[in-house]
Amino acid sequence: MQRLTLTQPDDWHLHLRDAEVLSAVVEATASCFKRAVVMPNLKPPVTTVEQALAYRKRILAVIPHKYQFIPLMTLYLTENTSVEEIIRAKNQEFVVAVKYYPAGATTHSESGVTDLLKVWPILEAMQTHNLPLLIHGEVTAKGVDVFDREKIFIEYVLDPLLENFPNLRVVLEHITTEEAVIYVNSKGDNLAATLTAHHLLLNRNDLFDGGIRPHHYCLPLLKRESHQRALLAAATSGNPKFFLGTDSAPHARQFKEHSCGCAGIYTAPAALPLYAHAFEQAGALDKLEGFASHYGPDFYQLPRNTETITLEASPWQMPDSFGFGTDQVIPFKAGETIKWRVSRPIV
Ligand code: DOR
Ligand code: ZN
Repeated sequence: MQRLTLTQPDDWHLHLRDAEVLSAVVEATASCFKRAVVMPNLKPPVTTVEQALAYRKRILAVIPHKYQFIPLMTLYLTENTSVEEIIRAKNQEFVVAVKYYPAGATTHSESGVTDLLKVWPILEAMQTHNLPLLIHGEVTAKGVDVFDREKIFIEYVLDPLLENFPNLRVVLEHITTEEAVIYVNSKGDNLAATLTAHHLLLNRNDLFDGGIRPHHYCLPLLKRESHQRALLAAATSGNPKFFLGTDSAPHARQFKEHSCGCAGIYTAPAALPLYAHAFEQAGALDKLEGFASHYGPDFYQLPRNTETITLEASPWQMPDSFGFGTDQVIPFKAGETIKWRVSRPIV
């Protein structure tokens, strides 16, 4: 059987939600990844170190004891974030970054930032204290075509930001365009990007394959195939500026299959196998370990994991759904065959 042993990977961009649905999704990640950077877009958002640590405790409380999973927390940047909070975050090992959502860009982004000028002192403090900024890179202006939101963001928001803060460490999250790949490649080591499995495996045709596909709806939107190819080339390039961040984002089925459905794709149950599939298709399985397990910790200035994990080419069927509170969540590739599996248990 085809086998691939890797340093245990980390997920550098993950949505775990909270309350009764947290326990429904956390094991999917904890059973494979050693660490995950947990997004703060709860309702209300996680804006302080105290809230982040309380959320972390709730996560740890529902992780089965056999896993040594380490949740790494983020703060949600708002126009009320203080410099003191940035310093508190810097002094707390389990808070690793601050997340910038442009107000209105995506799920629970209402408390996001309307104008970066309003958080200028915070960005200065983050640069001074070496705390990374994680960016949802899309403009929200109504006149901008939804497929162009990332490209326009890079030109009009990100580039001026990096000109003003040349030493701020920035992760452009879940990139979806060739322009983003080119831009990240053109900048220094303080700018990196995460790539999701779904943006490597899908393009915008998959949103409309025989009918509208709400479970393929995510933000930033899937783009045309040429962009998908550029993302795959970046992921498999061996360039440490590109690393794994699933953006696994579970929503209750009733809110996905809805007249105004939520954005988010739940990839966690097969995250690493999905990346393995994409890398294999690109003939680059040998590049998976760097992308999944080395470049993320290097960027975050954290140690690489010492444990290993084994992927086996041993097909299995993704369930049609998982329980999710009183509802269900439909995973990516529901009911389909997944070629790779993580040999378990990982302890
Ligand atoms: O598709 C997405 N879902 N994109 C995001 O930026 C947020 C996420 C979520 O929280 O559901
Ligand atoms: Zn996200």
